[in-house]
Amino acid sequence: MTRLQDKVAVITGGESGIGLATARRFVAEGARVYVLGLDEGRLKDTERELGAACGYSVADVTDESAVQEGLQAAVDRFGTLDVLFSNAGISGAVSGVLDYPSDVFTRVLAVHVTGAFHVVKHGLPRMRDGGSVIIMSSVVGVMGFAGICGYVAAKHGQVGLMRAVATEVAPRRIRVNTLHPGPTSTAFQDELEMAATGLPQAQAAAVFDELLPLKRHATPEEIAAAALFLASDESAFMTRSTLVVDGGIAG
Ligand SMILES: NC(=O)c1ccc[n+]([C@@H]2O[C@H](COP(=O)([O-])OP(=O)(O)OC[C@H]3O[C@@H](n4cnc5c(N)ncnc54)[C@H](O)[C@@H]3O)[C@@H](O)[C@H]2O)c1
Repeated sequence: MTRLQDKVAVITGGESGIGLATARRFVAEGARVYVLGLDEGRLKDTERELGAACGYSVADVTDESAVQEGLQAAVDRFGTLDVLFSNAGISGAVSGVLDYPSDVFTRVLAVHVTGAFHVVKHGLPRMRDGGSVIIMSSVVGVMGFAGICGYVAAKHGQVGLMRAVATEVAPRRIRVNTLHPGPTSTAFQDELEMAATGLPQAQAAAVFDELLPLKRHATPEEIAAAALFLASDESAFMTRSTLVVDGGIAG
């Protein structure tokens, strides 16, 4: 349990779901974790649970100065940065493109793409050489899916950001990769599936299970394990890549 010994990680949206599972796993593997998010109550709970190895700031990733201040607070607290996990996300609307609200489209791109841009722009200068940047995309960052055009466009956009930045920072041995989970059991995904199917949660989840060759959702802990792999030196030769962890749905 020392795969991240002496490393410092920042996780955006680390107060719930996959981000929280990852914060727990990173700390169990020896890291200190600084969480940036929106929900102050949950951020406090996360810090209380993880103890001295965890700090937090409230920061909306679309707010550049809030991200900059949050990243600096992480450095002030733990001394440096080794891992950036840009994980914060929202699903946006569930609607065909003709009815998709334009303001929601703009907001979804802002959270995922501009938010990740803010994290890398202000995180990279504070990072030690040899670190790892992980941008949380989705299986719909490598395939299409009807009814969620804002989310699909945002998740594809993050791949372009990753590819550009990975090339720029390779001389510093900083690796940049995107992570692409399939349906994963969190409140976020429950709401998306209920909106997409119009069914109660368990039935909506069963509809999505049928789409996957493995016939089930991932657990947040399974996705955290993939984030750990990308964060750790075990993936030292991986950069500019798209790691798909999706139960086979995109294949
Ligand atoms: N659950 C899935 O099936 C699934 C699949 C693929 C990708 N993802 C992605 O994984 C990430 C985490 O999702 P999750 O399922 O754990 O859901 P979640 O809702 O538990 O996590 C999202 C987190 O992001 C935070 N957040 C939202 N907007 C923010 C903003 N503007 N600034 C800062 N923080 C903000 C929320 O407070 C929350 O803690 C998201 O990027 C999501 O798109 C999820």
